[in-house]
Amino acid sequence: MALITGGTSGIGLELAERLASAGYCIIIVARDQARLELAAAQLSLDQPCEVLPLSVDLSKRDAAYEVVDLVEQHGRRVDVLVNSAGVGRRSAFVEQDVEAMLDMIRLNVASLTVLTRLLLPGMLERGFGRVLNVASATAYAADPTMAVHNATKAYVLSFTESLAEELRGTGVTATALCPGPTRTNFYDDAGALPAMTTGMMEAYEVAEAGFRGMMEGKTVVVPGASGKLLAGLARLIPGTVTQQVARRLGRR
Ligand SMILES: NC(=O)c1ccc[n+]([C@@H]2O[C@H](COP(=O)([O-])OP(=O)(O)OC[C@H]3O[C@@H](n4cnc5c(N)ncnc54)[C@H](OP(=O)(O)O)[C@@H]3O)[C@@H](O)[C@H]2O)c1
Repeated sequence: MALITGGTSGIGLELAERLASAGYCIIIVARDQARLELAAAQLSLDQPCEVLPLSVDLSKRDAAYEVVDLVEQHGRRVDVLVNSAGVGRRSAFVEQDVEAMLDMIRLNVASLTVLTRLLLPGMLERGFGRVLNVASATAYAADPTMAVHNATKAYVLSFTESLAEELRGTGVTATALCPGPTRTNFYDDAGALPAMTTGMMEAYEVAEAGFRGMMEGKTVVVPGASGKLLAGLARLIPGTVTQQVARRLGRR
């Protein structure tokens, strides 16, 4: 089966659709029960696949254990893990609510890492598996009012790159997907406009690139021109310049 966190909306839902089309039965994990049921109905309408919706808040401490327990209770095994659930919050670091900040770190970093840690042994035993971690093109860039969010995405990228090397030759691969600005609910929740609104990608385009890259076993996928531009510029231009650009864009 393919387990997709954040599989009820945006990039995660589109990835779930691609995996269902490829013949995988699907487990989707998110909080909102109504949206889980809607997404499960949508996924099984399009494809005759089994869909298991799990309502778990991945910002809670033991959430990844809870997910794996539920999967085992249902007698399922996971061959494809997509860690897409993630949030951002644009505000000055000193004004961030500490509990909300910790929730973001537990969701974007801790649950992603623990889920990967718990599900990888089974994949390795079977000699096949795919892990797709949704990072961001912002993993490459400093951004003064997204300090914690961008740091979590830099973690996801770095973690996945190292893991991919560790897994080489095992039949299991790890891929980091680094999208630029993409039209989803992300910016409603983040309380901010994206840094760039021109050239924003649609979630299905990002998912298509991520799905292909994951299945081919690529280590990093940066979809679309705007994401490649952000990632490329961040590598070429000194940090002070990207910080200034990000600060101006963040004020809009
Ligand atoms: N949109 C962009 O421009 C962009 C760019 C780069 C990277 N990304 C990354 O792409 C990933 C997907 O985001 P998206 O743009 O598709 O946003 P989205 O449409 O808001 O989807 C977020 C998904 O994550 C789930 N989620 C949020 N908090 C959760 C929690 N505490 N526990 C479990 N599930 C949770 C949501 O469901 P519930 O709310 O029901 O829990 C939803 O299914 C994120 O990791 C984001 O950082 C987005």
